[in-house]
Amino acid sequence: MNSKKLGLIASMIFAGLLFNSNANAAKTYQVATDAAYAPFESLNNKKEVVGFSVDVLEAIAKKSGMKIKFINTPWEGIFATLSTGDRDMVISSVTITPERKQSMDFSDPYFEAKQLIAVGKNSKVSKFTDLKTLKVGVQTGTTGDEVIQKLQGKTSPNIKRFESTPLAIKELENGGVDAVVADNGVVVNFVANNPNSKLKMIDDATFAKEYYGIAVKKGNKALLEQINKGLAAIKADGTYDKIYNKYFGK
Ligand code: ARG
Repeated sequence: MNSKKLGLIASMIFAGLLFNSNANAAKTYQVATDAAYAPFESLNNKKEVVGFSVDVLEAIAKKSGMKIKFINTPWEGIFATLSTGDRDMVISSVTITPERKQSMDFSDPYFEAKQLIAVGKNSKVSKFTDLKTLKVGVQTGTTGDEVIQKLQGKTSPNIKRFESTPLAIKELENGGVDAVVADNGVVVNFVANNPNSKLKMIDDATFAKEYYGIAVKKGNKALLEQINKGLAAIKADGTYDKIYNKYFGK
C-alpha cells in the first residue's frame, strides 16, 4: 500500500471518529414516563410532562451534561421499551424490586414510598387484611397489584386492574371497587386535590418501604454511572432537597 492510500485511509478513520463523537455529544436520551401519576409525573394543560420525577431527572441531566426528552408512555409495556431500545431510561415512580432487577438495571434510589389504602369515607376497612374478600382496584403490574395478590391470591376475581391509578381511584369514587391500593404520594395528592371525593386513607404498618429508581437497559453501565453521579451531585448540593420541598414540603 502506498503512503497516499494509507493517508486516505487514516483520514477516513479520523473523520469517522469525529463523526461518532459528535453523534454522541448530540445524543438525546429518550425517557419513558407514564404521566398519569401526579405529583411525580403528569401532563400540564400544555400537555408537557411535569412533576417531581421530571425535576429530579432534569437536574441530574444538567449536572452530567445529558440531553433528555420525556415521552409519555403507557405503564403497561413501559419496561419493554428499554430492551427494544425505543427508550433509554424509565423514570415513572418505579419501585426497585428483585424481580424487576433481573430484566433491567436501576439507579440509586431517588424517593422512598410505601403503599396506602384509599376507601370511601364511611368504609369499615381499618387495616390491610380487611381487604381479603373485598373488591380492590390497582394499576396493572404495580407494587399495589403485587401486595393485593399476596393477600387475595394471584387469581382472585376481586382484584380489579386498571391501566392507570387515576382510573382505579375514579372507580372507587363510582363505587365499582371497595378500595384502591397504590403508592402513598399519589393517593395523598389525589385526596388533597379532590376535597369532594369523599375518600379516606388508611396506612398499614405491614406495608414495606419501597424505593423509586431510574431504570435503564440491562448492562448499560455507562448511562447508569452518569445518572448515579448526577443524582449524588444534586443530593450533595441541595438541589434535590429544593425539589423535594417544592412538591412535598419540609
Ligand atoms: N411504584 C409503583 C410500582 O413501581 C407504581 C408506579 C406507577 N407509576 C406510574 N407512573 N404509573 O409498581
